[in-house]
Amino acid sequence: LILVLDFGGQYTQLIARRIRDCNVYCEIEPHNASIEKIKEKNPLGIVFSGGPSSVYGEKAPSVDPAVYELGIPVLGICYGMQLMTHQLKGKVVSAEQAEYGRTNLRVMQCDNLLKGLGPDEQCWMSHGDRVEEVPPGFVVTAKTELAPVAAMANEEHKLYAVQFHPEVVHTPKGMEVLKSFLFDICGCSGTWNMGSFLEEAVVDIRQRVGDKKVLCALSGGVDSSVAAVLVHRAVGDKLTCVFVDHGLLRKNEAQQVVDTFRNLFNIKLIHVDASDRFLGKLKGVTDPEEKRKIIGTEFIRVFEEEAGKLGEIDFLVQGTLYPDVVESGTATAAVIKSHHNVGGLPEDMKFKLVEPLRWLFKDEVRRLGEELGLPEDIVWRQPFPGPGLAVRILGEITRDKLEILREADFVVTDEIKRAGLAREIWQYFAVLPNMKSVGVMGDGRTYAYAAVVRAVYSHDGMTADWAKIPHEILGNISTRLVNEVKEINRVVYDITSKPPGTIEWE
Ligand code: XMP
Repeated sequence: LILVLDFGGQYTQLIARRIRDCNVYCEIEPHNASIEKIKEKNPLGIVFSGGPSSVYGEKAPSVDPAVYELGIPVLGICYGMQLMTHQLKGKVVSAEQAEYGRTNLRVMQCDNLLKGLGPDEQCWMSHGDRVEEVPPGFVVTAKTELAPVAAMANEEHKLYAVQFHPEVVHTPKGMEVLKSFLFDICGCSGTWNMGSFLEEAVVDIRQRVGDKKVLCALSGGVDSSVAAVLVHRAVGDKLTCVFVDHGLLRKNEAQQVVDTFRNLFNIKLIHVDASDRFLGKLKGVTDPEEKRKIIGTEFIRVFEEEAGKLGEIDFLVQGTLYPDVVESGTATAAVIKSHHNVGGLPEDMKFKLVEPLRWLFKDEVRRLGEELGLPEDIVWRQPFPGPGLAVRILGEITRDKLEILREADFVVTDEIKRAGLAREIWQYFAVLPNMKSVGVMGDGRTYAYAAVVRAVYSHDGMTADWAKIPHEILGNISTRLVNEVKEINRVVYDITSKPPGTIEWE
């Protein structure tokens, strides 16, 4: 295990990703983790992340200096280097000129950390303060034009630091630096993979659950699916899954969930067909926020009712991922939409939680899903909002409109998959904007719905760029939509990025 201590840097998670990419398991802890906790984790090495503060700032994040006495190798990055300097009695000053972006790095001494680098390399810098004097016992191993100390080391005590960011792609040899730290300095073996994660997770879950009963709200999305199959692998029939079908899913989706979990994995699955109930509540409702709230509330009710029928339940499975764990509590954002996360409910029920994915990033969850034998369709499923097609039909939701949208969405999805674009486009779907227009087909006038095609590139859904789908593919989609979905006579492509648009239309 490598421990990354977080000083609030924007690249902290990326450092963790890069380390795991080297098949070394790694966890992030806040900078103020107690020395006992650090010792308890028994890491082979510790990395200090970057951060926005200045070591002289009033609330500058710090670390217990006893960390330098543990005999565990430490790598300080950016702010991490400044903090190490400050705590070990070197000198940090505020630079007259900040250094930002691609920078030439002059390697002066190839220590164990920098031995993979040539004398002149490119690196990525992003700092205001700089180290002026290294602490006693340290040597300067690299510099740049503006930073007299761009890297330093105290090899005897295995303390290393770099001002640049080895974790970003703009430092082309950055991975060499990280690898030297992990393998040569910390002695990591690099054998961690999804298989080993799976074995350990199964043992953990089994121990925690014992002979108690476990419940999982299954949505068919990647996270809840992988979590369910993993927990089932550990505790078998002690797990019951409840799949609340609100009638707002895509074509064949409910059937696929039932087939996969009940038939392929033999998981106890309760399929609640609650579409009448949801559509009843949504009748006449046109306001987007109201729709979301109705669906969210109704979902909790149905889930609670079903859970109630099962008698005493001790644990609830949640598909929480690592980025949520690391970021929880820090984000304060305006409410743009009331999100409803099918996997993450309900709040006030008295369950203990099983969160087997809380150490994983999204792509690792997909790899785990493959390891568990989940079908590709589920493992590589695009994100789908909890309120489902309700936020893709503007105005009132009716069964007819749902049927039209399902068919339209199927065509869009099918064409994107055929074009081999499914994995590079984050989300691709159809929207029904509740708008009719005049057209001509055969020799007759038509008056029918317009369909919107929406497709975006994104990394996390927070920002997005509209997808540059080749015109030919867009042409195919348009032709098929009008030919195959009777109620559609016009197709438009949404070329709004996020911001200013959102990905969904409601
Ligand atoms: P927006 O439309 O806000 O969507 O740009 C960002 C991402 O979140 C998804 N989304 C949701 N996911 N429950 C969810 O679990 C929701 O209520 C919800 N609303 C939007 C959306 O599909 C996109 O990936």
